[in-house]
Amino acid sequence: MQFKVSNANKLEGVISLPGDKSITQRAMLLNSIAIGNSTISNHNTGSDALSMFNCLQHLGVNLKKEIDPDTNQELIYIIGNGLNSLTKPKVALDAENSGTTMRLLAGLLSGQPFASVIDGDSSLRNRPMKRIIEPLSKMGAQIYGSKNNTVPPISIDGGNLKGIKYSPEVASAQVKSCLLIAGLFAQGETELYNLKPSRDHTERMLKFMGANIEINEANISINSSTLQAKDILIPGDISAAAFWLVAGICHKNANILIKNVGINPSRSKIIDVLQSMGANIKIINLQEEMIEPIADIQVKSSQLKGVTIQGKVIPEIIDEIPILALAGSCASGKTIIKDAKELKYKESDRITSTVDTLRTLGSDISATEDGMIINGSNQLYGNECDSLNDHRIAMLAAISGLIGKGVTTINNFESVDVSYPKFRDTLDILIS
Ligand code: S3P
Repeated sequence: MQFKVSNANKLEGVISLPGDKSITQRAMLLNSIAIGNSTISNHNTGSDALSMFNCLQHLGVNLKKEIDPDTNQELIYIIGNGLNSLTKPKVALDAENSGTTMRLLAGLLSGQPFASVIDGDSSLRNRPMKRIIEPLSKMGAQIYGSKNNTVPPISIDGGNLKGIKYSPEVASAQVKSCLLIAGLFAQGETELYNLKPSRDHTERMLKFMGANIEINEANISINSSTLQAKDILIPGDISAAAFWLVAGICHKNANILIKNVGINPSRSKIIDVLQSMGANIKIINLQEEMIEPIADIQVKSSQLKGVTIQGKVIPEIIDEIPILALAGSCASGKTIIKDAKELKYKESDRITSTVDTLRTLGSDISATEDGMIINGSNQLYGNECDSLNDHRIAMLAAISGLIGKGVTTINNFESVDVSYPKFRDTLDILIS
C-alpha cells in the first residue's frame, strides 16, 4: 500500500497510543503458563503481538480475544494451567516478523518435554539467534538453528534443563527474557550476571506474578516458580510515542498531548535524550503505583541542538534511533550516534535503512560502522521512498513528510501493521 503525506500546517491534538508491544507479548506468554484466569486490556493489536498469540494457541493455551460489550474494547482472556500445561504443536510455529516472539518462545520451548520448530519471515530468518542458542544449549536444550546454528528456523527438543550462571555478551532484553523464562523450567538457579541495561519488563512482570526471582542491578537470578495469573493493563507504547514526540518538536507549529504512555525508566531514555537536545517535552499525571509507570506527555515545537549519543544508553533507545536521526536532521549542529551496531540486526539493517531513507528526504546524514552522523538544520523535502518492510522506517518517512516541504510518497506502508496499525488515524487527528 502506498501512503502520501503532505507537509502539515500545524500538528495539534490529544492522542492515545497502541499498547506497548513488548509488554503485550510478555503478558500473554507469562499468563499462559501461570495458574488462573487473566484479562489483558489495551493490548498491542499489531502483527508481532498476534504472532505471539497464535503461537501460544498452537501450544494448546486457552486464550481468546473478545470485545468487551461495556467499553467496546478488545480484550485478551487467558486461562492459565501452570508451567506444565503446554502441548506439542501440530505445526511449525511462525513468529513471522517478530524477534521478541521467536526469542522468548525459544526460552519457553526449551523447557518443554516435546520437540518443536519455530520459524519466521525472510527478515527474521536473517536475524542472529546464536545469542540464545548458545546459552539454551548450555542449560541442556537440544536446540539447533540454520546456517551453523546462527539463524532461524530453530528446532528445539527441550526438557530437563539445569540452571546456569551466564553473562550475555549483548545488551539485549530478548536474550535476558529468553533465559529467565527458560530458568522457570530449570533445576537449580539460573543466574544472569554483568547484565548491561536493557528493558526490564520481563523481570518486573515475573516478580508481580510471584516468581522466585531476585533482581539486583546487573544481576538477576531465578528459580523454578509457580506464577499467579494477573490482569494486566498495557500502557501506551513509548516507542510509538517517540514518532509523535519528534514530529512535535521538529514541526514549527505543534502542540500535542499524548495520553497514558508507559514511561518505565528502561524505556524512557528517549525523553531524556530529546530534552538534552532542547526539546520542549513535559511529563504530566505520573502514575507510579502500577507494575509499569505511566504518564501523559505534552510536546511542543522546539529549537533543537545536535548531541552525541553513545554508550550504555543505546540499548535503552535502540528502537527510537531511526526517529532520533530525524530529530538530529532538524537540530542545529552535528548529531553523532555511536555504539549502535545492534541496529544492523533489527527488522532491517537500521543503520543503512535510516540513512538511505532520510537522505532521500533531504537529510545530510551518513552511515558509520556503528551508527550515523547527521549535519543538522536540514530542509527536509518530499520524495518517493519505501518502508523497506520495516515498520519503524515507514513511520520515520511519514513523520519526515509532515515536517518537510511537499509530498512524501511511501511505498509498502502496510509494514506499520507490525506495531501500529492505526498510525494513520493518529496522524489524521493531529492534522485535522
Ligand atoms: C524487545 C527488545 C529489543 C527491541 C525489540 C523488542 C523486547 O531488542 O529492539 O523491538 O521486547 O524485548 P533487543 O533486546 O534484542 O535489543
